[in-house]
Amino acid sequence: MKQVVSLEELRAARKSLAEPIGFVPTMGFLHAGHISLVELAKKANASVVVSIFVNPAQFGPNEDLSAYPRDIPKDLKMLADAGVDLVWLPTPDDVYPPGFATWVSVEGVTEPLEGASRPGHFRGVATVVAKLFNAVQPQSAYFGQKDAQQVAVIKQMTRDLNFPLEIVVGPTLREPDGLAMSSRNSYLSAEERQAAPVLHRALSAAKTSYEAGEHSGDALRAAMHDVLKQEPLARLQYVSCADSLTLQELNQIENDALLSLAVFIGKTRLIDNVLLS
Ligand code: PAJ
Repeated sequence: MKQVVSLEELRAARKSLAEPIGFVPTMGFLHAGHISLVELAKKANASVVVSIFVNPAQFGPNEDLSAYPRDIPKDLKMLADAGVDLVWLPTPDDVYPPGFATWVSVEGVTEPLEGASRPGHFRGVATVVAKLFNAVQPQSAYFGQKDAQQVAVIKQMTRDLNFPLEIVVGPTLREPDGLAMSSRNSYLSAEERQAAPVLHRALSAAKTSYEAGEHSGDALRAAMHDVLKQEPLARLQYVSCADSLTLQELNQIENDALLSLAVFIGKTRLIDNVLLS
């Protein structure tokens, strides 16, 4: 597995890779969810490129940029074991050189949910992903359903800016108790970790209710709320039952829908979602 840092090194290494190339962008502190995307990429491509970059532009001023967990040696071992061909570890200066002044701002789908709770977050995500796509020039790029709105934003940007690549979405990997795997789970104390599966329980309760015939958005949002309020460590930021493409809240589910939520467990903000179809 080759490792590069600068854009020049990346471009040189990119030239000697067999195509098609599958690309998995990450912020590191890897877990089985990230590796499942690498495995998907390996199945469909001749080479796999992974980037590790904790992108300052997608963190708000009061968010966890400096505390974001990092373990590059462990990440590199996991990626080598998974058969990755090339890892790109750019520095903040490689991605945002002095005088940087060009941003990718996606409208519409960035506005509700995470966009409303984290102003500027998706501008940072879209900008860095556009830059990573330009540099790596993959035939396909892999993203997790865990970040459902991020997928919607990246798909919109890829269409609008004519990136000649396919966006592939992998399922959310979970711990045995239902908690979605996330680098941020490492912030949880033992007691908080025990409380954290409440997100998945809330989504599952609403899904069960949907499958039993309940198609009202209000009723499904209330079903999630009811489960969350039983957990004293959980502080709800939003629950949503929205159109899976536009992410606009639904009164009534006609076709499919995305149930999603954001919850603070102590100081740690967790998100999760499930698709109803
Ligand atoms: P990061 O949080 O490191 O996630 C990298 C990729 O792994 C994302 O596509 C995310 O959706 C996926 N992922 C995370 N947890 C997962 C899980 N439990 N199951 C399956 N996939 C999972 O998302 C980012 O980084 C950044 O925003 C990035 C796209 C790299 C831009 O900076």
